[in-house]
Amino acid sequence: MNALFIVHEVIKKYVGKGGVAIDATAGRGYDTSFLCDVVGDEGKVIAFDIQESAINSTKELLDKEGKRATLILDSHANMDKYVEEGMADCVVFNLGYLPHGDHSIYTHFDSTKEAIMKGLNALKSGGVMCVSIYYGGDSGYEEKDALIPWLKTLDDKLYQVLVTYFHNWKKDPPIPVVIFKL
Ligand SMILES: C[S@@+](CC[C@H](N)C(=O)[O-])C[C@H]1O[C@@H](n2cnc3c(N)ncnc32)[C@H](O)[C@@H]1O
Repeated sequence: MNALFIVHEVIKKYVGKGGVAIDATAGRGYDTSFLCDVVGDEGKVIAFDIQESAINSTKELLDKEGKRATLILDSHANMDKYVEEGMADCVVFNLGYLPHGDHSIYTHFDSTKEAIMKGLNALKSGGVMCVSIYYGGDSGYEEKDALIPWLKTLDDKLYQVLVTYFHNWKKDPPIPVVIFKL
């Protein structure tokens, strides 16, 4: 059991073939590829990253696997330029830095918060957002420490926010967060 397992199980339960999925942090493309499987050929996947190397890795993986997604080299904080309100069945964030990449480039609370708000607007009602908070190491604790209290302020008439902890893991276990849009 880990954060990835929880997030993938939630997405498989709530998103189906023909759905629209947004990957806010493409990275090496593993989540983008998973989302392509979930929505199938009749669905749509849109993925963002600020690093060209991440977009290239994602494209390479999808090409190898014969999958298709719209890849956007831009910050997820600008998501509203590319997606319409209420179009998405799910939005996925994997915070932190690019594995085997430049550890000095990682997600930050201010842009993550803006992107989460825009992602929530992009979700249809009944849609789900999954945010895996990776922290510690080179990216530190600042983003996690700001994000978790802020998530508590989301309007409970509009959203249900689930924050899960691997409570007895010793070394900065990733925190899967699931937000349901009511
Ligand atoms: C933990 S990795 C994502 C891993 C990815 N989901 C995968 O399956 O390989 C985090 C990614 O977020 C990207 N990132 C950081 N800030 C960003 C921003 N403002 N907008 C979009 N992507 C960002 C980084 O470049 C990095 O590739």
